[in-house]
Amino acid sequence: MLVLGIESSCDETGLALYDTERGLLSHAVHTQVAMHEEYGGVVPELASRDHIRRLIPLLRHVLVEACVEKSAIDAIAYTAGPGLAGALLVGASFAESLAQALAVPALPVHHLEGHLLSPLLSVDAPTFPFVALLVSGGHTQLMRVERVGSYELLGESLDDAAGEAFDKTAKLLGLGYPGGPALAVLAQQGTPGRFSLPRPMLRSADFDFSFSGLKTAVLTAARSRMLSATEKADLAAEFQEAVTEVLVAKALAAVKHCGVETLIVAGGVGANRRLRERLDSAARRQGIRVHYPALALCTDNGAMIAYCGAQRLLAGEKPARRDGAFAVRPRWPLQAL
Ligand code: KG4
Ligand code: ZN
Repeated sequence: MLVLGIESSCDETGLALYDTERGLLSHAVHTQVAMHEEYGGVVPELASRDHIRRLIPLLRHVLVEACVEKSAIDAIAYTAGPGLAGALLVGASFAESLAQALAVPALPVHHLEGHLLSPLLSVDAPTFPFVALLVSGGHTQLMRVERVGSYELLGESLDDAAGEAFDKTAKLLGLGYPGGPALAVLAQQGTPGRFSLPRPMLRSADFDFSFSGLKTAVLTAARSRMLSATEKADLAAEFQEAVTEVLVAKALAAVKHCGVETLIVAGGVGANRRLRERLDSAARRQGIRVHYPALALCTDNGAMIAYCGAQRLLAGEKPARRDGAFAVRPRWPLQAL
């Protein structure tokens, strides 16, 4: 079965072709980073308009790369939420119309379920059950995953998501947009411990997180005096250390709590090198296996959506007949699945 995946929930247009027998045949992403950069954040209307421009060329691209005709597509999976309403509507209307034209089913997919299952696209795929640490720009959640479609929320951020904290802190340090990767680069040049930042909720006996106070602590440190370039890097390093320490401790505690042996990490912050180093070494000591998606599949992409749709169809899900009517869900808790 050949599934076309379409992602357009925020500022990346991603398309991919996943074959249930042959695996991922092709995927392509267009990122709008350069377009939103001058505004310091995503401008929803510009995002929607850009998705419109990119979808058809990207579809052509993935078809050519996979050496298939569009008539070979058996189903279309698309991100129906959560995300920006307009951006989601562009992807959904494209997916639903193409599905009608090709007379194939269209399957609305939850963006976070896509992230959650993305490590299963790797050659060395994890086996169920596992705990998932979802760390994206909009979400920080720990979930117990029994199988495809069975997700139990263990804990989540009570305020800013980890990626959001990276982005906002980067902005405070004048690093532009998107801040997460830029902050990570700066942190590599600094030394943690020269500034002292809190480890929020590290010792709370639950799996919840809170990152907004950390950003305020960075602001206070940055405002106390003019920071030199070295001090800025030290502050970035300490921030990264604080976030990763809490994420690692809580994720491994959740794995223990659930009595499983595997942790998967998904979402944009999963690309953070320091997080991976710390998790790998702590997990090794505790006999826990950690799986990550390939770096290119950490941030938003169509491959995870195609894969998620394919797994749902393989599990027997029958796409509803909607006769041209469809809806997107900008707010959509994963547990509602
Ligand atoms: O999963 P994603 O692509 O989009 C959402 O669904 O939110 O995640 C994007 C988030 C952004 O906040 C970005 O700053 C963060 O992931 N991010 C990183 C790194 N790469 C991306 N944060 C820290 N270190 C990185 N290397
Ligand atoms: Zn995402």
